Amino acid sequence: MTAATAATASATMTASTTTSATTERRNVTEIHTDQAVFPPDFLWGAATSAYQIEGSRTADGTGESVWDVFVRRPGAVEGGGTGAIACDSYRRWREDIDLLRMIGLNSYRFSTGWSRIMPTGRGRANAAALDHYERQVDALLEVGIKPLITLNHWDMPSALTPAPGRGGWLDRATASAFAEYAGAVTGRLGDRVGHWITQCEPWIIQLLGYQLGLHAPGVKDLARSVVAGHHVLLGHGLAAQAIAANSPAAQIGVALSLFPCVPDSDCEADRQAAWGSDGYVNRWYLDPLAALGYPADTRRLWEGVLAGSGAGFGTEDFILPGDEAVIGSRLDFIGVNYYTRRVCAAAAPGAAGPFPWAVVGPRGDVPRTDEGWEIAPDALRDLLIRLDRDYGGRPLVVTENGAVFGDAPTHDGRVHDVRRVAFIRSHLRAIAQAMAAGARVTGYMHWSLLDNFEWALGYRPRFGLTHVDYASGRRTLKDSAWFYRQVAATGTAPKEDPDYGFDG
Ligand code: FCB
Repeated sequence: MTAATAATASATMTASTTTSATTERRNVTEIHTDQAVFPPDFLWGAATSAYQIEGSRTADGTGESVWDVFVRRPGAVEGGGTGAIACDSYRRWREDIDLLRMIGLNSYRFSTGWSRIMPTGRGRANAAALDHYERQVDALLEVGIKPLITLNHWDMPSALTPAPGRGGWLDRATASAFAEYAGAVTGRLGDRVGHWITQCEPWIIQLLGYQLGLHAPGVKDLARSVVAGHHVLLGHGLAAQAIAANSPAAQIGVALSLFPCVPDSDCEADRQAAWGSDGYVNRWYLDPLAALGYPADTRRLWEGVLAGSGAGFGTEDFILPGDEAVIGSRLDFIGVNYYTRRVCAAAAPGAAGPFPWAVVGPRGDVPRTDEGWEIAPDALRDLLIRLDRDYGGRPLVVTENGAVFGDAPTHDGRVHDVRRVAFIRSHLRAIAQAMAAGARVTGYMHWSLLDNFEWALGYRPRFGLTHVDYASGRRTLKDSAWFYRQVAATGTAPKEDPDYGFDG
């Protein structure tokens, strides 16, 4: 921790210990000099998603998903990887639950396979796939691990994309197909699952799936990507209604990819650039989900982009009257996927591209993961405090946070991923600081339980608490998992990195 953040921590500690009303209401974490203490009911978990870990792509009557199709495109995935086997978790799921138990976690975020449950996109649900997930949920509950289920972690049935560049989230009807699927899953599991995450990362779906074509379904069309993003949000609203009917006591949320956007300098133009980028990345999703409607500045931006691209339609052509009410109808918690931040500056005059900002940083010698992403825990603290302030004090669950570090097993058979230990520790302390400042953070799901199929990047980046040998499927808990076990067992995150002499 830097001197500056230490000072903030001790300042927030004073504030939290002197305002007892706030302390009681928030059930805040205490920050002592040497450790951050989390509430006893805090959710300590890890996250995965179906396509990234399961393999067995046709088992139990599974239908083809858009990712099964996309990985066949030459060059779409680094190294030519596919989800055909991945971590083989569709067969080895009991082993994965054992891993959660060994780490001592009390929760697990995973996704149900959309194309497994709705092989043809609409109509009758596939009972065999529902049986599979029911067994998994029951086994988790039996050992005291709370399931947090994501419904769409990107494996949409390919039947919903009838031709390249058509269908999928471009099609308004997909929002109701998604609600049918949500109804099928919650009809079976709604009595047992306490947290439902409808959509994973609407902005990433819009950006990578429909604007840049780097993820399935591989559409590259800026104007229509905005339409797709709207339908993803509409899908949340419709699905939330189906979930609420089947799972009345459950908490319903969305996992959002949130990237704090900070100005490169103090000048007004850079500040405006950061705010504009924040609208594009964060507020365009957060505001309507939190029943505030689409932010006017970003809507103007999209109007300009649509007009300039000659799309022949405006936002009122797909954001229909009543849509915002549906989208904002239910958000019990905000799922925060946090990896890094964006440093923004005003776009250079005459620069190509549709947006009046440029992502220019981080510049210089900042700490980075093996994927080059800046490690910026303080930005997570500030983000959580801001979400608490701007979105009605809703509970916040960190639904993803993690880093690529490529450490492999060494001669002693262990994986000494000391940088991941430091990464987790610093981010947990940032969360504790936000909680001490009043943010209601109720859980932390590390991405990921396992090294897995990292979408277009294939199997190269390793995000896991557990090393996976892809040839054999063998799992090895990394030192970070042993560290995380200590955190979960004690409910505290230490101030300093431990020495790494865990016995395991
Ligand atoms: C998020 C995705 C998740 C994983 C992590 C690294 O954007 O939700 O599946 O790929 O990034």
